[in-house]
Amino acid sequence: NKEEMIVRLLQAKIIPVLRKVSPAVFMDVVDALSAGGVTAVEITMDSEDASSLIRNVKERYGEKMAVGAGTVMDHADLSEALKAGAEFIVSPILDESVVKGANAEQVPVIPGVLSPTEVVQAIRSGADMVKIFPAGTLGPAYVKNIKGPLGDIPIMCTGGIDAENAADYLKAGAKIVGAGSSLIRKDLIAEQDWSGLTKEVEKWFLQLNH
Ligand code: 3PG
Repeated sequence: NKEEMIVRLLQAKIIPVLRKVSPAVFMDVVDALSAGGVTAVEITMDSEDASSLIRNVKERYGEKMAVGAGTVMDHADLSEALKAGAEFIVSPILDESVVKGANAEQVPVIPGVLSPTEVVQAIRSGADMVKIFPAGTLGPAYVKNIKGPLGDIPIMCTGGIDAENAADYLKAGAKIVGAGSSLIRKDLIAEQDWSGLTKEVEKWFLQLNH
């Protein structure tokens, strides 16, 4: 159910964002991430054949990987993602039809926000968690500062997160970090260096435990 999925996301800590990874190597990438300890992935809906990617990862991993849809911009994206079996929904923006639609299906939804007003607006609309995006533009101190008045609203930080700063966002109060380009490294994918990608993930987790 929804609460269990949220717990799994919180335990995952780092959620890799798979945006436009070639379908030819997609499963190799997911396998490398899983080998490094990743237990949740976000597949963006602007990826080629995103629905099949979501289905395939779910089929291969079952309960071992929470499979979410990202860049869910509108109700059409949401329908497609849910039909494919997406287990959580992430967006760079707050679209009420996405939030309401996900609520109706009991699927956790994490809309993108920036200002304190947007954070609260998202939660009042029905968001289960908010994604501060692009978090890197403001830095970890922003998370700490808004948590003063906004208390324990669960926060994910995405956009500009890297191995060095991920721990700072979590220490500042974020519950989860989303990681795209600096984790799903294009150079490693080009070389099909899957053990290198696994090592990269292990490095990220190691930094969190410092
Ligand atoms: C994205 O836009 O793909 C995600 O927000 C990840 O951003 P990043 O590449 O800055 O981690």
